Amino acid sequence: MFERMLVGKIENRITVGLIAFVLTMVFLGWAAINEGGRMAAFAEMQEARAIEQGAMLFAANCTTCHGLDGRGLVGKAPALNSPTLFGHDFFPEISSQISDLTGEISLLTDEKNAEGTTDARKTEIDARIDEINTTIADLNTKRSADVQTAVDKGYNPNDGSYSRLTELGWAGTLDSFLLTTLIHGRPVSENYWPDPMPAWSQTAGGPLRQDQLEDIVAYIENWDKGDNWTLDDLYAVNQFPILPEDAGPLRDQLAAIIESGNATIPEPVGTDVEAITAAIAGLTGDAANGDALYHGFAKTGLSNTLACTGCHMQMANGVGPMTDGTYTRASTERLAEPQFAGYTPEQYLIESIVLPSDYVVPGFVDAMQKDFGNILTPQDMADIIAYLQTQNQ
Ligand code: HEC
Ligand code: HEC
Repeated sequence: MFERMLVGKIENRITVGLIAFVLTMVFLGWAAINEGGRMAAFAEMQEARAIEQGAMLFAANCTTCHGLDGRGLVGKAPALNSPTLFGHDFFPEISSQISDLTGEISLLTDEKNAEGTTDARKTEIDARIDEINTTIADLNTKRSADVQTAVDKGYNPNDGSYSRLTELGWAGTLDSFLLTTLIHGRPVSENYWPDPMPAWSQTAGGPLRQDQLEDIVAYIENWDKGDNWTLDDLYAVNQFPILPEDAGPLRDQLAAIIESGNATIPEPVGTDVEAITAAIAGLTGDAANGDALYHGFAKTGLSNTLACTGCHMQMANGVGPMTDGTYTRASTERLAEPQFAGYTPEQYLIESIVLPSDYVVPGFVDAMQKDFGNILTPQDMADIIAYLQTQNQ
């Protein structure tokens, strides 16, 4: 009897334990899923804000040439809100037929040039190649005729020209194409447009910051309809891009951008303190440049000007803690906080820059900007940390 009760109790305990375990897992799972959802919602919100900012900047700076709706202005500048910019092919079957036929031509040509091919066979091959070329020409004509309204406005569905990037031989992503075009402008376009595409980046003497350019890119990319572009969208384009008759200088200019490495845009550091610590461990921080960045005398890798000293004065009395002794306070006072157990002073500094709300220095309010993770590149961060290391009095 006693034994039975004991077994019953143990079973009960196991059951209770099991239920508790299951409930814990369900809760953890829910929390994990929810965390993912929150992150996704946050990313979506950021994206929506970027597009909204981009729309305003586009309206203020771009519509005079590219049109209110981005569909181009005749004789002024090409459409960006257009299936050609996003490389949409309205005739994928014809494209694949043509590509098969082109493949056949190259096989036949190889055979014709091979040793031992008889003259009779060569004549046969030539006849077949002529036939194929006629078929290709017919397919192209048919394809063009189907979209004559657009062809009349300069659209060319053939030879890969339905994709602007293919036509230009751009070897990078659409993202880098848009951003670098905005940064550098298109100086050669003065040869084939009344006014060339200007350079917009402050680094090239233009009026806009890097983050503003990125917002404009987000706005332009939000026009992409993927597989859902319609012929009506195509016909709504007012002005298609031009490939000038002498496309050499244009292609050279684009190739030079890619070769110079200017088509790779530095990524900002983000807010993952461990990842940032690892990223800057491989870099050499330049304290003098960090000093200039901190005081707003130099631009960041993404062309922004910081104003750390707007809040951090050298001595007390600022909105934020004084710059003087920042490193000393980090290594002694802050690392004594249980929250920073196991941190290096550098990790504390990184966290206080990218996640300022995670710890609010006593005596101050949570007033620091929250978006430095989107603004600083790893090299900027390495330089600023190197500078703050000199504040060790
Ligand atoms: C003074 C007129 C003018 C203004 C203002 C202007 N653009 Fe342009 N833009 C052009 C011209 C002309 C071209 C075509 C360049 C070429 O064909 O090489 C062009 C090309 C582009 C391209 C490349 C398109 C392609 O198919 O090659 C992008 C992207 C672009 N502009 C974006 C913008 C944005 C965004 C703004 C506003 C910040 C802007 N432009 C303002 C005239 C202008
Ligand atoms: C709008 C005002 C403001 C700006 C701009 C600002 N900060 Fe701060 N910062 C603060 C405030 C307020 C605190 C203290 C509250 C807290 O811990 O978040 C702080 C805290 C810090 C700390 C921790 C200092 C300590 O004593 O522990 C560091 C490091 C720091 N900021 C670095 C920077 C850097 C680097 C920049 C520029 C890239 C910057 N801040 C820009 C307001 C600002």
